[in-house]
Amino acid sequence: MIRVCLIGLGKTGREIANFLLKQEDIKLVAVICSADSDKVGKDLGEIIEIGETGIKVDGANHLEEVIFKAKPDVVLDFSSPKATIKNAKVFSKMKVNIVVGTTGFTKFAMKKLFVLTRKYHNAIVYAPNITLGVNVLMLFSNLAANILNEYDFQVTEIHHKNKKDAPSGTALKIAVEIEKGIKASQPEKEEVDIPIHAVRAGGVIGKHEVMIIGENDKIQISHESFSRKAFAVGAIKAIKFIFGKTGYFEMNDVINLKKILGDYLEKENSVLNRRYLGKRNGIGETQESLA
Ligand SMILES: NC(=O)c1ccc[n+]([C@@H]2O[C@H](COP(=O)([O-])OP(=O)(O)OC[C@H]3O[C@@H](n4cnc5c(N)ncnc54)[C@H](OP(=O)(O)O)[C@@H]3O)[C@@H](O)[C@H]2O)c1
Repeated sequence: MIRVCLIGLGKTGREIANFLLKQEDIKLVAVICSADSDKVGKDLGEIIEIGETGIKVDGANHLEEVIFKAKPDVVLDFSSPKATIKNAKVFSKMKVNIVVGTTGFTKFAMKKLFVLTRKYHNAIVYAPNITLGVNVLMLFSNLAANILNEYDFQVTEIHHKNKKDAPSGTALKIAVEIEKGIKASQPEKEEVDIPIHAVRAGGVIGKHEVMIIGENDKIQISHESFSRKAFAVGAIKAIKFIFGKTGYFEMNDVINLKKILGDYLEKENSVLNRRYLGKRNGIGETQESLA
């Protein structure tokens, strides 16, 4: 059983709390909001409208006390960048592992998260791109950039009008994957600049789209979340991955799509080879006679 403490009960945190309560191998042991939040002292069930849960919401001014009492193995954070950096130091000192779903960090702040894991020997998964679907989009973008390195790549992301950071952490990571793909096939290329367009409007949960435009054709790869449950599913994968580990990780380590792709290609190749050898040994037509 993995004991989890959730930080942040906003739009995303509320959905995730509901999901965590339904897991058999995860126990939600504490929930923390900002110190002056009107949720502090209330039962979690009252906030997410499911009836009493026995979990009282605490304020971020009592972190040590909450951790000491609830003894979580993993903290799951969907709050704000400023709160995350402040709180992560306390959790790291107390050797608690952290999954950071919050976005909008400066490069300097992200480095701080990395340094914490080195200093305190706990583990952090930094996951601005927590859904499986968006990670598949990143892999496709990386492959497309490697193959279509002469095409123009543009990233567009659309989120609800209350999202604070722009461009999204996911859009920034997609641009990095495209850059990596282009540079892997054209190592001599020094500067790769991928334009990112951010739209903030209405209640869109999250949409990311990569446009790949050549002289004669165009490819579009896009991902859209219909429900915040997609974030909860990814968060649970990250919680299970980080349990008992030390070090700094990203969603790429959790899902490991490049290994899945590598294993798949290897399997495909060995099936092709077996077919070829079977045919060469007289079981079917040889490749040569087919040519
Ligand atoms: N990784 C992903 O794929 C993904 C997906 C969705 C969202 N996100 C990110 O997750 C974060 C939260 O998103 P949201 O839409 O849920 O935002 P939100 O609705 O604004 O909620 C933010 C929550 O953080 C809490 N909070 C603020 N300061 C805090 C502190 N010092 N300690 C503890 N909690 C604190 C707030 O508590 P009070 O309201 O009670 O003050 C609120 O519950 C954002 O950065 C967003 O970009 C990431």
